[in-house]
Amino acid sequence: MTTTISPLIAGNWKMNGTRSSLDELAALASLLTTGEAPRAIVVVCPPATMLAAVARHGATAGIQAGGQDCHAESHGAHTGDISAGMLADAGAQYVIVGHSERRADHGETDELVRAKAEAAIGAGLKPIICVGETESQRDSGAAETVVSAQLAASIPDAAEQHEVIVAYEPIWAIGTGRTPTVQEITAMHASIRAQLVARFADRGPSIRILYGGSLKPQNAREILEVENVNGGLVGGASLLARDFYTIISAV
Ligand code: PGA
Repeated sequence: MTTTISPLIAGNWKMNGTRSSLDELAALASLLTTGEAPRAIVVVCPPATMLAAVARHGATAGIQAGGQDCHAESHGAHTGDISAGMLADAGAQYVIVGHSERRADHGETDELVRAKAEAAIGAGLKPIICVGETESQRDSGAAETVVSAQLAASIPDAAEQHEVIVAYEPIWAIGTGRTPTVQEITAMHASIRAQLVARFADRGPSIRILYGGSLKPQNAREILEVENVNGGLVGGASLLARDFYTIISAV
C-alpha cells in the first residue's frame, strides 16, 4: 500500500439490502467504534432505496455513503433513473460509475461512464470509476491494453482538479472467489499508476486505485499490501459486518 495515500474500503451491496440490513450496518458501526480505529476511510454503497438510511445511521461511526450509479444528466424525463445531485441530496459522498455489471447489463460505454463521472463531480460527489478486463482478454495477454483504453476514455479531464477514485476489478474475479496473483495485481496497479501520472501530472500520484474482485477476509491483507493498491471495492463480503470489518482492519 502506498503510504502517502489514505486507504479507502468501499462496500458495494449491489441489488441486496432492505431495511432489515440496517442491523448489519449497526453491527459494522459497533465494530468500528469499539475496536481499534480504522486506518481506512469506510464507504458503504447500498441500493438507492437505502441510501438516506445508510448515510444517517452510518455517520456516527464515520461510515460514508455512496451510490452505485447515477445518470449523466442532472434532471429530466428519464424514468427510473437517479441523478448525482439526488444521491448527494440523500447523503451520498461517493458514487460508483462504470461497474462491469452496468457496462454489461446496460451497455454502458466508456463515453457514458465518463459523462456520469463528470455529473458526479458536478454534484460534489467523488466518482469511483471502475475498469477491468474479461478472462479471455487476460488469457490473450490484452489485460493492460484493455484497462488502459478504458481509463483513457472513462476518466474525465476534471480529475486534474477534483477527486476521483479508480477501481480495478477484473471481471473474471467478481463474485467468483478467484483473484489475480499478487504479481498480476502489482503489474496492473503499476500500469494504472503510470498512466494516471502521465495524464495528471499534479494529481496522478495521489489518485486512489482500489482493487476489487473477490476481496475476502482471507486474502485482504495480502492484496491490500500491494504497492499502488490504495484500498478495495468489496461486493459479497461487504454484506456481512464481521467480514467487511475484517477487510477494513486488514489495512
Ligand atoms: P465481489 O464484487 O467482491 O463480490 O467479487 C466486487 C464488486 O463487484 O465490486
